[in-house]
Amino acid sequence: MQILQGKKILLGISGGIAAYKTPELVRRLKDQGADVRVVMTEGAKAFITPLTLQAVSANAVSDSLLDTQAELAMGHIELAKWADFILIAPATADLIAKIALGMANDLLTTLCLATAAPIAIAPAMNQQMWHNQATQNNIKTLMSYRYSIFGPGAGEQACGDIGLGRMLDVPELVTLTCEQIAKTMPDANSSEQKPLSGQHWLITAGPTREAIDPVRYISNHSSGKMGFAIARAAQELGAEVTIISGPVNLSTPESCQKISVTSATEMHQQALEHAPAADVFVACAAVADYRIDHIASEKIKKSQDTMQLNLIKNPDIVADVAALANKPFTVGFAAETQDVEHYARDKLARKKLDMIAANNVAAAGQGFNSEDNALTVFTATDEKVLPLMSKNELAKQLVQHIQDKLSKSLKTKS
Ligand code: C5P
Repeated sequence: MQILQGKKILLGISGGIAAYKTPELVRRLKDQGADVRVVMTEGAKAFITPLTLQAVSANAVSDSLLDTQAELAMGHIELAKWADFILIAPATADLIAKIALGMANDLLTTLCLATAAPIAIAPAMNQQMWHNQATQNNIKTLMSYRYSIFGPGAGEQACGDIGLGRMLDVPELVTLTCEQIAKTMPDANSSEQKPLSGQHWLITAGPTREAIDPVRYISNHSSGKMGFAIARAAQELGAEVTIISGPVNLSTPESCQKISVTSATEMHQQALEHAPAADVFVACAAVADYRIDHIASEKIKKSQDTMQLNLIKNPDIVADVAALANKPFTVGFAAETQDVEHYARDKLARKKLDMIAANNVAAAGQGFNSEDNALTVFTATDEKVLPLMSKNELAKQLVQHIQDKLSKSLKTKS
């Protein structure tokens, strides 16, 4: 079932550069079954045209409080009552300040006052403006009014600055909207019996960092997206989920518990502590194979032309979990650049896993840091190909496949 089936979402767009992402946002919300109506501020129209948003939403776009024709078609109070959920993306510092003050001097701010629907905002602004005390106070005010705050994300900004203030990417906004709607409108999915209810899933995600000295470390390009998508997919199907995550720049899915770690040693300790209580363990983290033998207590000074670091092997987390007497159903990942099947099957057997999901990280457009991925999933007796698709969709299919195998293995045991 599409999560937003029959839900009426009012998308408010204010005047920031991230407004260019909103046609895609409308399309992805509609993909989930939502009926979307768009309201634009004057500023938003400087970045994107109402015609574009009308075309993608298949609904008239509203942009004025004082337009008699628009009021005749669907007046502002009617529009405020129509919405099941209001999402404002991007929400500029100016718009945030206005709604925090309860102003109602244009259509969008008026709707925020006039609606009984839950409202979420996706802030988007320069990092200095985001950190400004005035903006932070306004955000606190909105949180006290029960607004949901989606993001912002960190990274390079349109103005060239780097830091917090980017509007979250469209897939993340859609996921957060689905979660918020499922939470605030429990009827959204409650008629279904959730297949993973009563199960506890433990998932490692992201990279680990191995310190060299107080300022430097060795790490890898893992973004954590795949692990977090698996956590979200398992949680949506009713599982209780704990994520043990290395340093990532992702928001934690609603209702999942996150344990933050830095090094492989810390991840190993947390995984072994929590694994005995888990039904399923998914080792999605890109764990550093080696750590520095002796971490320097002071910053290492530049001197000779070459230097050597002495590395020692890290513990293999997934193999140690699979060796537990009361082990959960254990799933590993194999990121390979060649002979994918051969190496994956070798790891499945050597680490005594129940399943391994293999991907070719050398292939263009998939794997590390990308939005998409493809997997071939091996057990001792069979294999299943999950072709290139978004990590969110792939995670859903993988979770379903794990559940199928798990229920078969439980049947065989009983
Ligand atoms: O041996 P390799 O690192 O390729 O194996 C990948 C799988 O093993 C992944 O599931 C990864 O999370 C897990 N792993 C681990 N601990 C390590 C190294 C890898 O859990 N030290």
